[in-house]
Amino acid sequence: MKYFGTFVCCLSLFALVACGNGAPSAGGCGNHGTECSGGGDCDGNGGCANGGECTGEGKHANAKEHCTKGGANAAIENMMSRRSIRKYKDQPVSREVLKEIMLCGINAPNGQNKQSWEVRVVDKPELQGEIKAAMAAAGGERAAGCFYNAPVWVFIARDKAYDFSTIDCGLLSENIMLAANALGVGSVCLGSPVRFIMESPQRDAVLQKLGFSDGYELCICISLGYPDEAPAAKPRDISKVRFID
Ligand SMILES: Cc1cc2nc3c(=O)[nH]c(=O)nc-3n(C[C@H](O)[C@H](O)[C@H](O)COP(=O)(O)O)c2cc1C
Repeated sequence: MKYFGTFVCCLSLFALVACGNGAPSAGGCGNHGTECSGGGDCDGNGGCANGGECTGEGKHANAKEHCTKGGANAAIENMMSRRSIRKYKDQPVSREVLKEIMLCGINAPNGQNKQSWEVRVVDKPELQGEIKAAMAAAGGERAAGCFYNAPVWVFIARDKAYDFSTIDCGLLSENIMLAANALGVGSVCLGSPVRFIMESPQRDAVLQKLGFSDGYELCICISLGYPDEAPAAKPRDISKVRFID
């Protein structure tokens, strides 16, 4: 669990660097030259605070969540529209779509191209039921529901022998979630199943079913499925980012 801090840092850093958004540049929205008018400032989501409006070719998409140049940049649009989904339709995700998502996952940047991850995709209800029971044995009903009834559960393990493997797994996870979003599939990154599985009396049985190689440990999980909700963006703190001159 000590790796969670690094993991979260890694995800945030990647999102910020990749999107270049939310930077407190003089009066701009931090996105492709869009600016805030009327003395408005950038907010942490790339929109305008203090009553400012986005000007130029920029626009507010997703109800003030962000502002992109005409919404033209699909990659930025994708990053800024991804949200954690905790309510899913009772609709399977095809293996074809899942393979495309996973291919994007393993194309993430990673230290020395060691690919210090292993990924297990569980979309069969029977195995999910077994894992659910094991988690419930550790943490009751809350644990049993921690995948939010998503039709697809992804388990990601890290190579314990590589000190940057948690970061690799974070980048892989973000690629999976962004690829999913681009294909209309919702996701949520999940730390709690790791805890519940590792604390479960049935831990060894679950890990054996997942079949990770020796030297790998469960690091993070992801739920995937078609969204049955459209949550708003949670606020981001722009003061976390500073330009140093
Ligand atoms: C390392 C990590 C662990 C997380 N664990 C959980 C979890 O166990 N349960 C959950 O509902 N969400 C979990 N989340 C999702 C975060 O709560 C979510 O990403 C955050 O609140 C920001 O919301 P957003 O993803 O909609 O932008 C986790 C996210 C990360 C990066």
